[in-house]
Amino acid sequence: MTTTRPAIENVMREERIFPPPPEFAARAHIKSMEEYKRLYQESIEQPEAFWARMAEELHWFERWQQVLKWEEPHAQWFLGGKINACYNCVDRHADGPNAEKVAFRWEGEPGDRRDLTYRQLKTEVSRFANVLKSLGLQRGDRVAIYMPLVPELAIAMLACARLGLTHTVIFGGFSADAIRERVNDAKARAVITADGGWRRGQIVPLKANVDTALADGACPTVEKVVVYRRCENAIAWQEGRDIWWHEAVASVSDDCPAVPLDSEHPLYILYTSGSTGKPKGVLHTTAGYLLGVTITTKYVFDLHPEDIYWCTADVGWVTGHSYVVYGPLANAATVVMYEGAPQHPDFGRWWSIVERHRVTILYTAPTAIRTFIRQGEQWPAKYDLSSLRLLGTVGEPINPEAWMWYHRVIGGGRCPVVDTWWQTETGMIMITPLPGAIPQKPGSATLPFFGVSPKVVNREGQPLGPNEGGFLVIDRPWPAMLRTLYGDDERYRQQYWSQIPHVYFTGDGARYDEDGYFWLMGRIDDVVNVSGHRLGTAEIESTLVSHPAVAEAAVIGRPDEVTGEALVAFVTVKSGFTKSDALRKELAEYVAERIGRFARPQEIRFADALPKTRSGKIMRRLLRKVATNDPELGDTTTLEDFSVLARLHEEEE
Ligand code: PRX
Repeated sequence: MTTTRPAIENVMREERIFPPPPEFAARAHIKSMEEYKRLYQESIEQPEAFWARMAEELHWFERWQQVLKWEEPHAQWFLGGKINACYNCVDRHADGPNAEKVAFRWEGEPGDRRDLTYRQLKTEVSRFANVLKSLGLQRGDRVAIYMPLVPELAIAMLACARLGLTHTVIFGGFSADAIRERVNDAKARAVITADGGWRRGQIVPLKANVDTALADGACPTVEKVVVYRRCENAIAWQEGRDIWWHEAVASVSDDCPAVPLDSEHPLYILYTSGSTGKPKGVLHTTAGYLLGVTITTKYVFDLHPEDIYWCTADVGWVTGHSYVVYGPLANAATVVMYEGAPQHPDFGRWWSIVERHRVTILYTAPTAIRTFIRQGEQWPAKYDLSSLRLLGTVGEPINPEAWMWYHRVIGGGRCPVVDTWWQTETGMIMITPLPGAIPQKPGSATLPFFGVSPKVVNREGQPLGPNEGGFLVIDRPWPAMLRTLYGDDERYRQQYWSQIPHVYFTGDGARYDEDGYFWLMGRIDDVVNVSGHRLGTAEIESTLVSHPAVAEAAVIGRPDEVTGEALVAFVTVKSGFTKSDALRKELAEYVAERIGRFARPQEIRFADALPKTRSGKIMRRLLRKVATNDPELGDTTTLEDFSVLARLHEEEE
């Protein structure tokens, strides 16, 4: 645990309150604060009875015998139960009254479109599951998925879930090095990819990146690569290893029953950044995760059968797993999916999608909202956004002004805004307004979801009072929580359950106000949130020092108006190398190539020496001040040797 950021000490006051509009509350699943409080209280006082009742919403092949077995820090939920996530998301709708309902309403960046009904989804998923079977993949095997945002990405995930294969989706913005690292950590037997995907009018060379990752036997566990044809893009081909998706599905049957799996069967691994070392493989299992995302989707988005639901996240991140695929499909929702960039061909694209598809629920990230604010109100003003009835945000704190703009310009002043706090590790939304029940304050994620018990504590784990900034922890298990870090249970214990004993450590700073509303204040560890993308500074630092010119590197996050935070790298160069603009560019490019473009530092500053404490720790808090030109420090713009500053500021670290 490193130092808390100054933001935590700033107690901001927000006086504006937006109660649920009466006409919204009248037809909401949860209609009043009283109803929320009653259910919340029940969920905390009798958690097992509460979750058991909720679990009735799912289809079970065999009912569970025990709701929760908690041996800190390991939870097992719904022991003895047999269930299948794919069956819950697909079959029970396809074989029932929702067969002809649209599951995915997809739009490609070039403008191509496709609707897939639940019946068609079942056929496609079953076929692809048969392909996976024909490759000899067995229950428990890992399959990596590196695809553009096309329905086949969800089909691939669901086909894995159908058979009990554990998927690990790698975001399409990651580079070959990042793919290799994840594929090897997960020991994936197969990789599913595409010839490319469209982004800002360009083809992202997904298959080529996979080829590079796998070259020269670098991923020895991978036997097969399945390639979906998206772009008619010329690609290299390795006979015996590579298989065309369209050829493979043509020769298999569309009958492939979902396999009954234990409740705790591993559903997926998703890699995320931590404060140290390599990415962590967050492991989610079947029943608890599915239950958590199913009921949060229903209550937080107040989902009704006629809704047209659009979560703009890429499925490569947890938001896409929980709220593009598993949560909405388990609720038989119609899900809008858009492949490309918001500014393609212009900044009206998203609003045109809302207008054309009559989107009713929109869930996105504050960064996107801030980008649109910059572009001006004329873009949304060109389109009819009157179909919208609920807005949501996720991924980073939303500043009250962005909240207000979203509410007024996009929501026409009539739509509640749900600011949802959660993490890859939590699997499901944890702190959020319920839109028909909980009055919203711009910038606050408000109150905990049912069964969730967050606390704000100090370093010693003692609870803090209202408006005292501290560490956000969660003091009891919840169904969708991560079960471990794949292959590294010790790190799981260390990272989440040892920083403060007997509670789950979120890594976020927070306070709660006199109404019990939570205000998230950003990470308190060395994780930086750039445009809602979570990046570990240690990972970027070790990439930088692997460059021949770099001796030492320290990376910090600096507040940024659009992206929330931006990366600033302080670098010392080895003798014989010149500190030049060319080297700056080269280093930024080096990081982009090795991790992904979204990890590229916004600024690289050369230093003769990095400021360090007597014990040799880099003084990050001081570097943050330098990066933001904190007036307290005076002019540091031409400073190259930070050792004098370090001596002056040692006490603060
Ligand atoms: O710092 C919090 C921030 O995003 C982190 C989790 O990132 P990730 O695992 O990538 O998951 C993002 C999508 C769930 C958290 O530790 N965060 C997420 N949502 C919010 C938030 N910070 C403030 N307000 C939020 N609503």
